[in-house]
Amino acid sequence: MVKKPWSGRFEEKTEAAVEEFTASLSFDRRLYRQDIAGSLAHARMLARQGIISPAEAEQIVKALEEIRLKMESGEFVFETAKEDIHMAIEAALIAKIGEVGRKLHTARSRNDQVALDVRLYLAQEVETLSAALADLRRAGARQARRHFGVIMPGYTHLQRAQPILFAHHLLAYDEMWRRDQARLGESLARIRVSPLGAAALAGTTFTIDPRYTADQLGFKEVFRNSLDAVSDRDFVLEFLAHAAIIMVHLSRLAEELVLWSTAEFGFVELPDAYATGSSIMPQKKNPDVPELIRGKCGRVCGNLLNLLVTCKGLPLAYNRDLQEDKEPLFDTVDTVKACVKLMGGLLESVKIRPERMSAALRGGFLTATDLADYLVTKGVPFRTAHEQVGQTVRFAEAQGKELWELSLVEINKFAPLAEADLFDWLKIENSVARRRSPGGTAPERVAEALKRVEEELGLGGGPGS
Ligand code: ARG
Repeated sequence: MVKKPWSGRFEEKTEAAVEEFTASLSFDRRLYRQDIAGSLAHARMLARQGIISPAEAEQIVKALEEIRLKMESGEFVFETAKEDIHMAIEAALIAKIGEVGRKLHTARSRNDQVALDVRLYLAQEVETLSAALADLRRAGARQARRHFGVIMPGYTHLQRAQPILFAHHLLAYDEMWRRDQARLGESLARIRVSPLGAAALAGTTFTIDPRYTADQLGFKEVFRNSLDAVSDRDFVLEFLAHAAIIMVHLSRLAEELVLWSTAEFGFVELPDAYATGSSIMPQKKNPDVPELIRGKCGRVCGNLLNLLVTCKGLPLAYNRDLQEDKEPLFDTVDTVKACVKLMGGLLESVKIRPERMSAALRGGFLTATDLADYLVTKGVPFRTAHEQVGQTVRFAEAQGKELWELSLVEINKFAPLAEADLFDWLKIENSVARRRSPGGTAPERVAEALKRVEEELGLGGGPGS
């Protein structure tokens, strides 16, 4: 039987079901590197402050490094009875060096220890995720460059609305991803705050140096209130919220890829490497990757709600409820990282079908707004122009014609001020080219936008840049 650190106070041994129920080792073992890094800094600080001797600190450091190697190589045996990663490592340390190992936990609690581990872990993951977002953005920018001149219908209400550059559509996602990266970057300042030294909740009687441990761990800031340091999980909530927004963004593109790969749209063809077949219908090529990205958005949003509800109403300071922060956090980290990477690969290799986009430019009266704008240049108030063009569209639809297939005489029935130069305004290319307003879809605006993005991402522009 494993002797618990609190065995001094207890008469009975822990019920097996309780041991099982309270243990977090099965999932918090992924924090072993962070836990050991924190302990190394703590041991050095204790020696520096004369709380343990330099020789003792050295022994602890050496043993902890050996334990880390064993964990690294998979040799270490994790036992549920050790409850969590902190106790598993401490027990291994004591088993190795005896009495000296029993000194490490001086002036520390698992409460500040676990908060530190999660902060170290998350700081690293945020950087990894941000790098993955940068790769995704590069894939999007390369597609935009490759298909720079391609025009597609832009939609509102999923109804064809106005022609836009496909590159403009892609760059809309780039804006979202850029903000996603910015949010992650800004959150780092709040993640990199060391809680070590808060101890259980009230600080400690020892003359510790929290600034020194923070420096050792590369954290700029040190906690300001010991109660808050052990009970704050805002930094996790914030990350879960940012991650949920990332997934919402990805799911929108995923939905478009699902839609665009249908026979009805046909705007894209999914690469075989990113699709799957059906076990019964031999002809099928299914968009499982974007579907799963769309689907996994649910669990990531759920993880945010999960921890929000867990934290709601928790009295100060540490409560065991907070152990429930890890599974949603780890699940979100794993899920979002995978989705961002997969979407990057998919976006890089998806086949764009400009001819299908082009075919979809017919039939939707996509340049009706241009005709109204044209009439405004002839002095017609916009509301009146809107009405006149509405009637013209109704007429064209009844005739089964495009606006540009009507004669000037026919158009003049509804819009008397229209002249022959109106046909120039009905051309799809001209419609796009005229939208030169800031942030608009005109090729010159989109070229500027793409160039800016390429510069931000360290991409050399291709032809036409
Ligand atoms: N496994 C715990 C957690 O993840 C560590 C902190 C335990 N603290 C305590 N007072 N029981 O939150």
